Amino acid sequence: MSPAAFCASLLKWYDANGRDLPWRHTCDPYAIWLSEVILQQTRISQGTAYWQRFMQAWPTVETLAAATEDEVLKMWQGLGYYSRARNLHTAAQQIVALGQFPRTLEEIRRLKGVGDYTAAAIASMAFGVTAAAVDGNVYRVLSRLYAIDTPINTTEGKHLFTRLADELIHAAPHTALSPQGEETSGASLFNQAMMDFGATQCTPQSPLCLLCPFMEDCEAHRRGIAEELPVKLKKTKITTRHLIYIYVRCHGYTTIHRRGAGDIWQGLWEPPLFENQSLSQWPGHLRQLAIGVKHVLTHRILMADFYVLDTDQRPPLPDDYIWVPESRLSDYAVPRLVEKLVEMIA
Ligand code: ADE
Repeated sequence: MSPAAFCASLLKWYDANGRDLPWRHTCDPYAIWLSEVILQQTRISQGTAYWQRFMQAWPTVETLAAATEDEVLKMWQGLGYYSRARNLHTAAQQIVALGQFPRTLEEIRRLKGVGDYTAAAIASMAFGVTAAAVDGNVYRVLSRLYAIDTPINTTEGKHLFTRLADELIHAAPHTALSPQGEETSGASLFNQAMMDFGATQCTPQSPLCLLCPFMEDCEAHRRGIAEELPVKLKKTKITTRHLIYIYVRCHGYTTIHRRGAGDIWQGLWEPPLFENQSLSQWPGHLRQLAIGVKHVLTHRILMADFYVLDTDQRPPLPDDYIWVPESRLSDYAVPRLVEKLVEMIA
């Protein structure tokens, strides 16, 4: 199948099946960038609500740059992987220092936290640059169409699929109408079409091959191996960490500290934590709240025990702990796991 024929079928499919999403009605690079960063972290339904809250709080890159990191982390709360929020904030300040949003692939790529995928997504959707945004959807669609079993998480795989996607996107028309009838660059339409096609038609499990415009051309379908592709090498072993949190309650106040660099949840707040330590030297009577609360992160499983210490006297703690009224605890960005603890307390 020629690149031009592929593009024609893909864009026709997109015209009939494309999703109407709020950031698809704008060419504002800031709005598009924000949507991409959020959508790397969550599904469309949840991501849309976050995107709207961010856009409302900080409608421009200048306003986001002027926010405090705490405010940004707080707004990000619940999405996880907080380094993305910190990078977003840092990159906003980079952009303000530049004087305008960078317009080329190379310049966009230099923003903190922006990789090849995000740079191509922004450059194509905001500025019409012909660059393929190669995400998991693109790996899946292309690995199936050509029945390629090169693992996608290798340098060779990344180069191979990026080269293929770039060849295809260059056959897209210069401009065309979006499904909503707005004039849009072909590169933008191609990238968004690939995302939607991968997300809703060429899905990881049970792809809708019988309704697929590429059924006749798809080598994986012909061989009956669509669901086995793409191939991914198994890498890091998932390890388990055991955490013990103690929620201290003293005359309506509780104590938290901010996590430092070099571990998970940098910059977020948490109550006293014991990890690989005995609780025996902790003063007073601990009330057990929950044991073995499981929390899954990308490369780790956390098993947490929660305790409450009700006390009349503030226990001695390291200098970085602060005391906050329990009613103000929600002002602080905390990991989801700590949020679970707080929900049990309330
Ligand atoms: N996932 C990441 N970016 C997206 C976009 N622009 N549209 C739909 N899904 C996405």
